[in-house]
Amino acid sequence: MKLAFAPAYLVGLALVAVTPCIFAQNSSLPLSKSTTCDEKCQQSVQRGVTFEQESHAHTPLDDFYSIPASFKPSMEPGTLLRVETHTNLINYTVPAGLTMSRIMYTSQSLNGTIVPASAYVLWPYAPFEYTDKCSSNRKRGNKAEGKFPLVAWAHGTSGQFVKCAPSNYRSLQYHFMAPYTLGLEGFAVVAPDYAGLGVTTGPNGESSHAWGSSPAGANDVAYAIDAVRKAFPEYLATDGPFVAMGHSQGGSIMWAFAERQAKAPQAGYRGTIAISPPTRVVDILNSALAKIASLPASQLPAWALVTLGIQPKLIAAITTVYPSYNYSGMTPTSYDRWNNVMKPLQVCLPTENLAFNIPPNNLSASEIAKPNWTAHSTVLEWKDRVAVGGKKFKGPMLAIVGENDVIPLDILDQDVDASCKVSKDQSLEMVTFQGSEHFPVIQTSRMRWMSWIKERISGRDANGDCAKVAMCGKKSVVKGFNSNYTVHSITPNWLVQWVPTPQEMWKLAL
Ligand SMILES: *[C@@H]1O[C@H](CO)[C@@H](O)[C@H](O)[C@H]1NC(C)=O
Ligand SMILES: *[C@@H]1O[C@H](CO)[C@@H](O)[C@H](O)[C@H]1NC(C)=O
Ligand SMILES: *[C@@H]1O[C@H](CO)[C@@H](O)[C@H](O)[C@H]1NC(C)=O
Ligand SMILES: *[C@@H]1O[C@H](CO)[C@@H](O)[C@H](O)[C@H]1NC(C)=O
Ligand SMILES: *[C@@H]1O[C@H](CO)[C@@H](O)[C@H](O)[C@H]1NC(C)=O
Ligand SMILES: *[C@@H]1O[C@H](CO)[C@@H](O)[C@H](O)[C@H]1NC(C)=O
Ligand SMILES: *[C@@H]1O[C@H](CO)[C@@H](O)[C@H](O)[C@H]1NC(C)=O
Repeated sequence: MKLAFAPAYLVGLALVAVTPCIFAQNSSLPLSKSTTCDEKCQQSVQRGVTFEQESHAHTPLDDFYSIPASFKPSMEPGTLLRVETHTNLINYTVPAGLTMSRIMYTSQSLNGTIVPASAYVLWPYAPFEYTDKCSSNRKRGNKAEGKFPLVAWAHGTSGQFVKCAPSNYRSLQYHFMAPYTLGLEGFAVVAPDYAGLGVTTGPNGESSHAWGSSPAGANDVAYAIDAVRKAFPEYLATDGPFVAMGHSQGGSIMWAFAERQAKAPQAGYRGTIAISPPTRVVDILNSALAKIASLPASQLPAWALVTLGIQPKLIAAITTVYPSYNYSGMTPTSYDRWNNVMKPLQVCLPTENLAFNIPPNNLSASEIAKPNWTAHSTVLEWKDRVAVGGKKFKGPMLAIVGENDVIPLDILDQDVDASCKVSKDQSLEMVTFQGSEHFPVIQTSRMRWMSWIKERISGRDANGDCAKVAMCGKKSVVKGFNSNYTVHSITPNWLVQWVPTPQEMWKLAL
């Protein structure tokens, strides 16, 4: 069966559509080794490279990301390696009033190896003021001390190579969708890039991020919190209140983070928000493949078709954790696109879409991955190591999803129930937003998560009370007003314009 599946997973078309057409006619890309990417293909990839470069604050990555000589693999995780107190914002779209820092620290990979990792920090103009009504030590906010409540932000898929670090994106990847908005409400935001993104860890300046390895991402988040507290003790108390929140890949990392808090609690933890988490990515893929094999194309849910496109990144991520697996699930064509196009350019999600999913480079389902590749013993082992849900966790937790999300609702639903079964004393609530999609749901649910964060920071439990009342497994649907008439798409519909020169400032006048 020939399948015309949706070309973009998690980000893509909307961004590609606004790419300025200033790419070279003849490719100057270092892709001589590719056997499947012809001149037309290379021109298309060049558009992606140009777009990505224009989206980055520094090309190449600036010296901040080089590993300091002091780094040793024997260091404790959470060790501070570098602090840039005031990041020059000239190349960023950070809104007025906010400032930024960058830190480098040690984290721990899925295998337990100590790895250097980077994060950005956004500072508000002034701290969110609150009265901790529930604390025995009731003091007014942290205003008097000049300290900030903290939100740890876990980003969704940006890519798997070193250039895909959100701290080097002009708009920090999620801009007003999450980090800017949180900063503008008075929360300090610490946002890890995830190990393998930003700081080069591999040989020959190469690096590859273990995408989908949620417990490793949870380490990156937890140690970023430890490190930022060490870097800025005058602004962040070592036990100051914090909430962790993430989307998509970052949503699953948040689930792993809540499970990590049950085993390795951190002072000040007030709860976790997981937006659109693909909790069990291999199960989701298998479920999609089964639907595709058994249903006529007209009856296939959109998420099943979209999920096919994640296979190259999944196979590459498993190879990062298990080098001897060596991309076994890829076909010769997808192996060539990943290793001889993506890897030499170290490119990210927009170019990945162009290289695999968008005509003229679109691969058919049988060219993307080998049949039954998810049955390989290494894949099964990785799948078990990274799956979240059904384990003890520390709440309160809020799981948010769009009714039409690319994350299948039934799998999330099962994971909520499975987690509550083993952690009855914890609070976990799932809220579905009617008609909403993978990125738009961040905005449709904003009222909900923003007030949830403020309540948690103010010391109240998930019911808004001081008493600890567990509420595990509650599910509700938020109906959207005029939901049939809003913009629904898999991609963000909130783009931030970048203006490269003062001569183009006119573009910003509405
Ligand atoms: C592109 O390459 C072709 C063949 O190598 C050459 O004939 C043509 O002049 C080149 N075009 C540009 C714009 O450099
Ligand atoms: C901003 O970007 C320009 C163009 O890429 C670069 O030359 C400059 O060094 C960057 N400035 C800072 C402060 O990073
Ligand atoms: C991680 O651990 C697995 C299982 O022990 C091993 O096969 C693999 O080679 C290790 N990966 C790396 C990058 O060392
Ligand atoms: C990995 O697989 C590729 C493609 O099948 C092959 O060319 C290469 O030699 C393999 N590498 C190793 C180290 O086995
Ligand atoms: C790629 O997309 C084009 C245009 O939609 C379509 O005609 C073609 O069949 C697709 N190719 C493959 C291999 O799926
Ligand atoms: C895939 O695996 C299943 C069960 O292990 C088997 O029945 C089926 O024949 C396999 N399909 C292919 C194409 O190898
Ligand atoms: C919204 O669209 C659905 C599907 O097309 C339709 O069944 C429903 O009646 C519409 N609702 C309103 C309020 O227009």
